[in-house]
Amino acid sequence: MAQTLTRELATPVVPHPDDAAVLEELVQLARETYLLWDEDWVGFSWRNYTHDHVRRVRNLAMHLCLEEGGNTRPLDLGATLHDITKSYDGEIIMKDGKRVIDENGLWHNEYLPPARRNHVTDLYDQLGLRGQIHNISGARIADALLTEYGYPQALRDHVQEIIITHLTVSAASSLEGRCLYDADTIDANIGYPAFYRNIQISMHNLERQYAARGASLDEFLATSLHEYLEPYVREKLPAWLEGKRRDFVSKMTTASGKRRAEARLDRLGAEMASMGQELDTLEAALDAGRLAPAVYFMRNRRNPSVSADLAALMERWPEEQAAAAKFLASLQRESAGVW
Ligand SMILES: [Fe+2]
Ligand SMILES: [Fe+2]
Repeated sequence: MAQTLTRELATPVVPHPDDAAVLEELVQLARETYLLWDEDWVGFSWRNYTHDHVRRVRNLAMHLCLEEGGNTRPLDLGATLHDITKSYDGEIIMKDGKRVIDENGLWHNEYLPPARRNHVTDLYDQLGLRGQIHNISGARIADALLTEYGYPQALRDHVQEIIITHLTVSAASSLEGRCLYDADTIDANIGYPAFYRNIQISMHNLERQYAARGASLDEFLATSLHEYLEPYVREKLPAWLEGKRRDFVSKMTTASGKRRAEARLDRLGAEMASMGQELDTLEAALDAGRLAPAVYFMRNRRNPSVSADLAALMERWPEEQAAAAKFLASLQRESAGVW
């Protein structure tokens, strides 16, 4: 089983033959770009988050696009570059205790300069993109990069539109742009990757509270894990899941996106009910239950990379040891965009 899953992840969707080499270079360039910033946490994301997120969003968007009968070529390029300028987003700008939002309902962020430079940051400065929201600046960077590769204007325009649409859908948005919007929204909010993010954000907030009073979160988790997990699993997670169902399913702009969102919510809801049952026999659950990988993620939270963790964890809990392995298989399938 583990082998089958690894193969699925390795071949999510085949890139257009003319773009395969370019896409590989763009993935590397994007990764290099995210690493120009040194902050471990900004807002709701940690340093390794964006690279993992973009990879998953690309996988899911491409699957949605195939299901919808769209054109995967511009989408592949757009999805790969959609958050290329995301790292310039600093903390969310607040006024009178509220987030400042624009006419599209988008939050504005402080400008966060990189610690080092590369071609993307040079382009960002040359094009005067500071102050633009990252879907607009990202579209401009994508256009500049694809111009350098000699891509024709029509394709570049479509890629730009797709990247802009990942935050703002309108009646004029293309199907491919809507696939990216749906995939981006799902990844951050719905399903196992979003649950992983919820774990990291919850831990980060808790860690700050503990640090503020000179206490250690690790010590608390070591001595009082059950005390932490009871309300988290039985109350907070179900409420979080219901909130996502209420607020995000209706935001889907494709039939495939809506189907995926609902399937992911149902799957995770069942997983969480089982986790609740595991709390009664926590020792055994930590050995090979569903809670075992979840607790691993709680403890390993220094700039974590879920894609890197997954490979190691799937070796630790091979398929025969059911619950933990099933949890990881679901996380992997959703990360690969096949679920
Ligand atoms: Fe984004
Ligand atoms: Fe994104």
